[in-house]
Amino acid sequence: MNAIDLMIEEHKLIKRMLVVCRKISIKILNNEEVDYDDFNKVIDFVRNFADKHHHSKEEVILFKKMGDALGERIANGPIMGMLVEHDLGRLFIGNLEISLAKFKAGDNDSRVDIIANAIGYTDLLYRHIEKEDTTIYTFALRKLSKEQLEEINLACYEVEIEASKNSLQDKYVLLLSELESKIS
Ligand SMILES: [Fe+2]
Ligand SMILES: [Fe+2]
Repeated sequence: MNAIDLMIEEHKLIKRMLVVCRKISIKILNNEEVDYDDFNKVIDFVRNFADKHHHSKEEVILFKKMGDALGERIANGPIMGMLVEHDLGRLFIGNLEISLAKFKAGDNDSRVDIIANAIGYTDLLYRHIEKEDTTIYTFALRKLSKEQLEEINLACYEVEIEASKNSLQDKYVLLLSELESKIS
C-alpha cells in the first residue's frame, strides 16, 4: 500500500464533505428548511474520519517521520504549520457544535455562528489539503528514503487494517454518499 496515495484519496472524500457542508450553510442562509441533524453527521465525519483517522496518520506517522528524518527546520516550519491548521480545524468544529446546541435551545441568532464556523472550516481545509497535496506530500516523496517511505506505508497499513475491523472506512463513505444525495 502506498500511504501517500491513500491520503490523497482520503482528501478527495474530505473535499466532497466540504461541498456538502457549504451547501447546508447556503440553505441556512437562504432560510430554506434544513435538517440541522445533518450537521451532526458532518461533525461525525470530520471528527472520526477526517481528524481521527486521516489527520492522525499524518501526525503520528508521516509528519513524525518527516520531522525526525529531515531535521528541525522542517519539523518546526512546514510540519508545525500543518499541525496548527489541524488544531484550528478542531476549534471551528467545536464552535460549530456549540452553535448548533444553542440554536436547538432556541437561540435563533446562532444561525450566523453555525454558518461562520462551517464556512471557516471548509475554507481552512480546502487550503490545507491543497498545501499537503502539492507541497508537503511531494516533499516527503522527494526527500525521504525508500526505506523510510516503506516504514510509513507499513504503519499506515496497520492503521487501515485496524480501522477496517470496525468498517470505519465503509461507514464514512456511506454516510458521505447519503448526505450528498440528500443535500443536492
Ligand atoms: Fe493535514
Ligand atoms: Fe491531509
